[in-house]
Amino acid sequence: MKKLVRYGVIGFGAVAETRIVKEGFALDRRRFSPPGNVSLAGVTDISKARGRAAEALGLKWFDSAERMLDSSEIDAVIIASDNASHYPLAMAAMERGKHCLVEKPMAVSMDEAETLRRTARKAGVSLSVDHCMKHNSFNVLARRMTESGGLGAVNDICLHMELPFGATKAEAKSWRCANPENLGGPVADLGSHCFYMAEYLLGGVINTVASVYYPRTLDIGVECGAHIKFWTDTGISGSVRVSFAEQRGGLFSAWSNLGYEVYGSEGALRSYAAMCQFSGHPDEPARVRLELETPAEAKALSPEKIPTIYQSVIASHADSVISGSYDDGLEGVRNLRLVLAAHESARKNGEKVWITREY
Ligand SMILES: NC(=O)c1ccc[n+]([C@@H]2O[C@H](COP(=O)([O-])OP(=O)(O)OC[C@H]3O[C@@H](n4cnc5c(N)ncnc54)[C@H](O)[C@@H]3O)[C@@H](O)[C@H]2O)c1
Repeated sequence: MKKLVRYGVIGFGAVAETRIVKEGFALDRRRFSPPGNVSLAGVTDISKARGRAAEALGLKWFDSAERMLDSSEIDAVIIASDNASHYPLAMAAMERGKHCLVEKPMAVSMDEAETLRRTARKAGVSLSVDHCMKHNSFNVLARRMTESGGLGAVNDICLHMELPFGATKAEAKSWRCANPENLGGPVADLGSHCFYMAEYLLGGVINTVASVYYPRTLDIGVECGAHIKFWTDTGISGSVRVSFAEQRGGLFSAWSNLGYEVYGSEGALRSYAAMCQFSGHPDEPARVRLELETPAEAKALSPEKIPTIYQSVIASHADSVISGSYDDGLEGVRNLRLVLAAHESARKNGEKVWITREY
């Protein structure tokens, strides 16, 4: 049985450098210890300028994704390019027998997502989608609270990810803001996290979505934000607010505001900076916090251990490869369905969209 999974990273942009490589593979040795069952064989990007950044960090640079995928030094790839390129890159990887960990959202259409899932099964590889916030130890603790009845009967949740992005010319021209077909706007970019976290925290499956877009206050090609209502098969309703158009003070307070509130008959849970890429380490730019409030008291909840979320995401994919219990990307397919339902509803002025249980 394989003991070590050798990864290549395709798309060496912001998330790949700061989170996947420096944290996930512990290139930043001052802050992180190397993970056990994985190694990083190299990175690639269509932008040659990123090659210089990779070399400056001492990383092996592959001239192209094809070269990387043909290399016998690689067992698996992490695809961290813009959303529209996930599908062709993941298909090319799986057709060459490489396991894939794909950034969210896994693709830009249901046809693409379902083809990826079928291909993973046919090729006998593990296909996972990075739903990293489920690996945040504060969120794991929150889930334990809701599961164990610590809040009484939970009947409502609000998740919010609101940021300032798109106001500068460079941001407005970026793939996140320029082209709706790349699914870069806040509904997919941020809503995707809110949907899987809502299901994770509530333990149910979202079966209905209704949404409206925010007023157009930024000069960008995608929606500026959305208010999304949803309902689960366990009878709980919730809401999501996602936006690129909110200042929320400055970067620090915007990060701190990325969170959720879960409401139960006996109390409420409130989180701060828990809906972002921070793990909860004390040297991060915003403090991840979780608070429980009941009629009797308000107190902070802290996990015993704080693992680095990107190490956990990669380790979990590597475990699926090593154990042979391959993931087929189903969670990513369902998550994309919810994102596309939110867009569909907003285009129909907030009409409810029902999600059938096909999977
Ligand atoms: N899980 C999370 O919390 C999280 C956070 C941020 C971003 N993301 C996801 O990660 C992905 C990348 O986001 P980002 O913010 O790093 O974007 P980015 O624009 O900073 O980086 C994307 C990189 O991909 C490269 N690229 C594009 N097409 C390519 C191709 N065909 N082959 C090789 N490289 C290619 C670009 O040149 C760029 O360097 C997106 O899917 C995004 O949704 C996830």
